[in-house]
Amino acid sequence: MKTKILMVCLGNICRSPLAQGILESKVKSNQVYVDSAGTGHWHVGNKPDPRSIAVAKKHGLDISQQRGRQFSANDFKIFDKIFVMDNSNKEDVVALANNQDEKNKVSLILDVLFPNENVDVPDPYYGGEQGFEHVYQMLNEVCEIIASELS
Ligand code: 4NP
Repeated sequence: MKTKILMVCLGNICRSPLAQGILESKVKSNQVYVDSAGTGHWHVGNKPDPRSIAVAKKHGLDISQQRGRQFSANDFKIFDKIFVMDNSNKEDVVALANNQDEKNKVSLILDVLFPNENVDVPDPYYGGEQGFEHVYQMLNEVCEIIASELS
């Protein structure tokens, strides 16, 4: 059976689509299924932010076919592991969990690199393109580790 991984941020247009695209590129699609979602509803059905599409493209990834969707409690039943980008996402996702097992599926993605330090992937939405490159670099580093742990 495939391992199912969900990447979650606020809008599902900047950080989590990048995390999805990066992890997908590092795992075998017949072994691992990767998806992303946002805790907010504003960008449901939308493509990723053009700046995320651009930074992905710069690094050889096409994330332009992704579409935004909102996280729902049903995702706890589908996914084995839910990586959230920041502490606020974590609070929002954990609040929808029905039991401890579901809560245990949720962790900050940067816990993989910096355990117990509560480090956020910064939200690049209101900043410039440099912020998107920074987010790409962080996610690329952490997804390399996640992928190696999955294989
Ligand atoms: P994301 O960034 O959570 O990384 O997708 C955001 C995108 C949109 C908004 C906030 C954050 N927004 O408020 O519309």
